[in-house]
Amino acid sequence: MKTALITGITGQDGAYLARHLLNEGYRVVGTRRRSASTNTGRLDELGITDRVEIATIEMLEFGSILSALQESQPDEIYNLAAQSFVGASFGQPIFTMEANAVAVYRLLEAIRIVNPEARLYQASTSEMFGGISADSLNETSRFYPKSPYAVSKVAAHMATTNYREAHGMFCCNGILFNHESPLRGAEFVTRKITTNLARIALGDERPLTLGNIDARRDWGYAEDYCRGMHLMMTRGEASDYVLATGVSISVRDFFQHAAEALGMEIIFEGEGAAEVAHDRKTGKCVLRIDPDQYRPAEVNTLIGDASKARRELGWTPIISVAELAEIMVRKDYDRLKKGEAIL
Ligand code: GDD
Repeated sequence: MKTALITGITGQDGAYLARHLLNEGYRVVGTRRRSASTNTGRLDELGITDRVEIATIEMLEFGSILSALQESQPDEIYNLAAQSFVGASFGQPIFTMEANAVAVYRLLEAIRIVNPEARLYQASTSEMFGGISADSLNETSRFYPKSPYAVSKVAAHMATTNYREAHGMFCCNGILFNHESPLRGAEFVTRKITTNLARIALGDERPLTLGNIDARRDWGYAEDYCRGMHLMMTRGEASDYVLATGVSISVRDFFQHAAEALGMEIIFEGEGAAEVAHDRKTGKCVLRIDPDQYRPAEVNTLIGDASKARRELGWTPIISVAELAEIMVRKDYDRLKKGEAIL
């Protein structure tokens, strides 16, 4: 039986990946930071909390990472732990660099000491392309990070590549474009939209507030992407792969898909910060713009080309963005209707 160690197992990707690996017959050890709350809501929702072993570690402490590797002796390590909020990274650039980049060096060194044969998956991101305007971004596209988050992820990406080349270790970077689900954190824009639209559909009068609704992203379904992470680790040779759908839509369009799935008919009026959206059926104002949500530097458009993953891993995403918006908003509507807490 193979052992997988997943850092950040309590997040969206950690939970889906854990379930996938358990289904593949792995022993799964997941790490999380010490905290007063247990924070296993996503694992509970997937019904796998009792099937994974949880290790408490701190990615800022080398000794903590070293002991986790010595104790669990993993064959595969998936590094999903991160400060993953792009907007928040502008206010916490140093912590973001520590948690997302220096921590990766700690992990790489710990793997080299404990078992250099162990395989590493590093969670890289489409945010690294940032300001590059290209119709389609792939593994050979240039990086132009636009936030402290993206800068930290470029550093981690290069460190991972360097350990592969310098030490011959099996290290791969998954350059994942945005991937969402009903387990997505409520502060990311898709989930912010679906939880708030569900609340409004159930009678709440307060409109949702968003920042830049013209930003465009290539949004896929997280479970499809976690399957792709595992496929990267099953290859004979380590490499880097883009996972994306190849379709990019705006925040405004995602909002519209989700609202329509709840039977709303959206009309946008006004421009810039004065833009609002109403539901024609009820006359309710459902969206306002809040300029405080604008980012100091924005990534306007991201669209990915996953042809290498399709060719070499046989990976294709299954769920479209319109289906994704519908799945997410219906789930949030059901949760709120039953009085369940929003994860
Ligand atoms: N979060 C948020 N909240 N974003 C908003 C809002 C808002 O109220 N209004 C507009 N946006 C815009 C952001 O400015 C951005 O252009 C876009 O919506 C998406 O924002 P997020 O959902 O926060 O995601 P992200 O694209 O910045 O980053 C996510 O995806 C990356 C790529 O996979 C994160 O998960 C990153 O950790 C990940 O690397």
